[in-house]
Amino acid sequence: QSSMPDLWQDAMDHAVSLARTAGTLVREAVQNDMKVMLKSSSVDLVTKTDQKVEKLILESVKEKFPTHSFIGEESVAAGEPCKLSDSPTWIVDPVDGTTNFVHGYPFVAVSIGFAVNKKLEFGVVYSCIEDKMYTARRGKGAFCNGQPLQVSDQKEINQSIIATEFGSDRHVEVVDKIFSSMRNILCLPVHGIRGVGSAAINMCLVASGCVEAYYEMGIHCWDIAAGVVIVEEAGGVLMDVDGGPLDLMSRRVIAANNKMIAERISEQIDACAPLRDDASTA
Ligand code: IPD
Ligand code: CA
Ligand code: CA
Ligand code: CA
Repeated sequence: QSSMPDLWQDAMDHAVSLARTAGTLVREAVQNDMKVMLKSSSVDLVTKTDQKVEKLILESVKEKFPTHSFIGEESVAAGEPCKLSDSPTWIVDPVDGTTNFVHGYPFVAVSIGFAVNKKLEFGVVYSCIEDKMYTARRGKGAFCNGQPLQVSDQKEINQSIIATEFGSDRHVEVVDKIFSSMRNILCLPVHGIRGVGSAAINMCLVASGCVEAYYEMGIHCWDIAAGVVIVEEAGGVLMDVDGGPLDLMSRRVIAANNKMIAERISEQIDACAPLRDDASTA
């Protein structure tokens, strides 16, 4: 057992170096790679850079850690399974905030999470336009460019900023549910609602203490895996939107500075009209 922590530290060091290399590539591509392709719909975008960056990370991981498993957004899009097993698994979003990337909106991240026995061990999020490297290893704290992170100590939701996103599902029932959750939360009232267009960066903003919470329905494991460790190590909490424990694979999340704020958000989502079964966030 005693050699295991060193092995994960080695993987984490590699993840930081990969995130920096990948992020530099993304930053340089912002002005150049504007050949936009569509995935599930006309608002679900992907570019050559998403694919190139994922390939770079995947190949490097396979070479250095041949026994490890890999879940990546673009690999899953190409037909690879999205199933978390007990084996050491890299959970990668090569470009989180592709819509931002396409528009030059300056919040784009490379997100690398790492789980062993389905438990997240470290997370690395590189916000590459801002040049902010967020890192956290379980039990060892969360950092941005080497400076320790701490969530907000705000206890009152009516003195909080809450982050959320619209995702890329434009079914009217899904959009209605998003707006009704936002309406309920806004009217608590809260100081404001924000969203930078990157799930990973929203999570890092919770860890940094400048927003009290972030929630979203429809996200994937690669959007939040790294951020989960960063939020927890900064003293925050994770919750399912139904108030239960977070399931990384359930496609929904509340990340908050404390349990009270997370529960208040969960209550407001719960008070919204339920989604029809055929309008779930597929
Ligand atoms: C998306 C972003 C966005 C969130 C979506 C994600 P992508 O990731 O994180 O902020 O609202 O749910 O899918 O597709 O740009 O990697
Ligand atoms: Ca995407
Ligand atoms: Ca993403
Ligand atoms: Ca992505």
